[in-house]
This record gives sequence, C-alpha cells and structure tokens, in this order.
Amino acid sequence: MTDRYAVFGHPIGHSKSPRIYAEFARQTGQDLSYEAIEAPLDGFATSVLAFRAAGGRGANVTVPFKEQAYVLATERSERADAAGAANTLTFDGDAILADNTDGTGLVNDLVGNLGVDPAGRRILLLGAGGAARGVGLPLMARRPAELYIANRTAYKARELSARFDCYGGGFDALEGRRFDLVINATAASLAGDLPPLPDDIFADGALAYDMMYGRDTPFLAFARARGVRTADGLGMLVEQAAEAFRLWRGVQPQTAPVIALLRD
Ligand code: ATR
Repeated sequence: MTDRYAVFGHPIGHSKSPRIYAEFARQTGQDLSYEAIEAPLDGFATSVLAFRAAGGRGANVTVPFKEQAYVLATERSERADAAGAANTLTFDGDAILADNTDGTGLVNDLVGNLGVDPAGRRILLLGAGGAARGVGLPLMARRPAELYIANRTAYKARELSARFDCYGGGFDALEGRRFDLVINATAASLAGDLPPLPDDIFADGALAYDMMYGRDTPFLAFARARGVRTADGLGMLVEQAAEAFRLWRGVQPQTAPVIALLRD
C-alpha cells in the first residue's frame, strides 16, 4: 500500500517538497505519496490530525507552523528541543514524534555539497529568529572555532547564544572581526534588505551562505562584490528533506542529483 506523507504550511503553493520527495521515492524504490497541504492559519492541529486519521504516516511542517508542530507532538528529539520547533512529524500509533532536520540539513549541505566543514571555522550566524534557532545545535556539534550570533535586536542574540553555549550580540559588535563562514538566517532577504555588516567581515577563503533560495539576495550580492564565494539555501532544503526521508523510510536518498534538477 502506498504510504502517505505531506507538507503543511501557509502559504504552501510554492513548495518544492513534493518534487523532492517524488525524486527520493523514485531513486530508492519506496512506495509513497507526498502532497502539499495548506492548513488554515488557525487550523494547523486539526489539519494534521485529519491527515493522520486518513492514514498519513508523517508530515513536514513549514512556516508558520513549526512551533505549533513542536507543541502538538507527544515526543521530541533533542534537535527539536534545541530549536523549540519541528519540521518533521512521524505518526506512530497514538504517538506523534517531532524532530527538526533543518540544522542537520544545513550542516550536510556545507560538508557534503560545498566542502566546508564548520569544524574549526569561525562562524557568524545572522539572525535570532526561528531559522537561526533551528541550526544552532547541529552547528555547535561540529565544534567550530567560534559561533557568534548577531542580530538587529541584540538581546535576542544574547538569549539564543546562551542556549547554544556560544557568543552573541548586536551588529555593532562585529566591527574589526572576520569570519570564515557567514550564514544569513535573517528575514532581511525577504524584504530585499541587507543586514548591516562591516565591509571587511569575510576572512580569506570565506563562504557566504544565505538560507533563502530561488532568488539573488542583497547579502549574496554584498559577498560577491567582495570576491567571496556564495551559496543559497537550495542545498539545505534538499538535505533537510533527505534527513526526514531517512527518518521515515530508513534509507538515505542521494541529494546531489535532486539539487541539480531543482537548479535547472
Ligand atoms: P524566521 O523564523 O524566518 O527566523 P523570525 O522569527 O520573524 O523569522 O525572525 C526574523 C529574523 O530576521 C530576526 O532575527 C530579525 O531581527 P530582529 O530580531 O531584530 O527583528 C531578522 N530581520 C528581519 N528583518 C531584518 C532586516 N531588515 N535586517 C536585519 N535583520 C532582520
């Protein structure tokens, strides 16, 4: 019997997830279906529980429901606890298991696709919202030389850094500092804005990584103009899906061909 999965979000029309999972299923010979479901803003739990009642085996969750997914769960992984949010739910009888594969997806993209291991590197994480919270634990687990969280509202960066046992503050504290890996997890790109970075923030050989995908962002343009290598978040999107697929199906799909397919 075909096993059903879905992604829940609002809006969800633009989601690439059904395509990604269709490719993973084809590659690995898994018999599953995967659909995109737009839950009403005030009806996330009802939608998810209806999907489970109709035979759903698991769900991905995206904006703006990741925190609600975490609360809805009956059991939570350490990664979900660290993020305070879940992007992956697994239904097991009455239990709902919550996990968060975003940070692992980012790390796997960095290490596996981009050849940039966070280990030993000086990392600057921009933003202290949900996107940043989702990646702190897996980044710290790679033992960087340093992880610094910078945010427009400085106290939020300090709060988040305490959670991950690293450092954090406002953008003004970045003056005179250099980093090997700068990750943009702010929502600034959405508004076409550039976080206020000092001109010489990038160390030699640095990578600028924007978690956004599908458009050029002021942050990536800022990096390119300084001769810095750049990457967008498409690899992370595919890698977080691969990690969820592995949790659900027990098999590891190949990500590189799917990333290449979506780039086209
Ligand atoms: P998400 O879940 O996508 O992280 P969020 O929780 O609303 O969304 O957080 C948005 C993040 O982007 C925050 O870190 C926010 O900074 P503040 O905490 O100071 O609000 C950051 N952000 C949004 N617009 C920004 C901009 N124009 N410049 C810099 N940072 C911005």
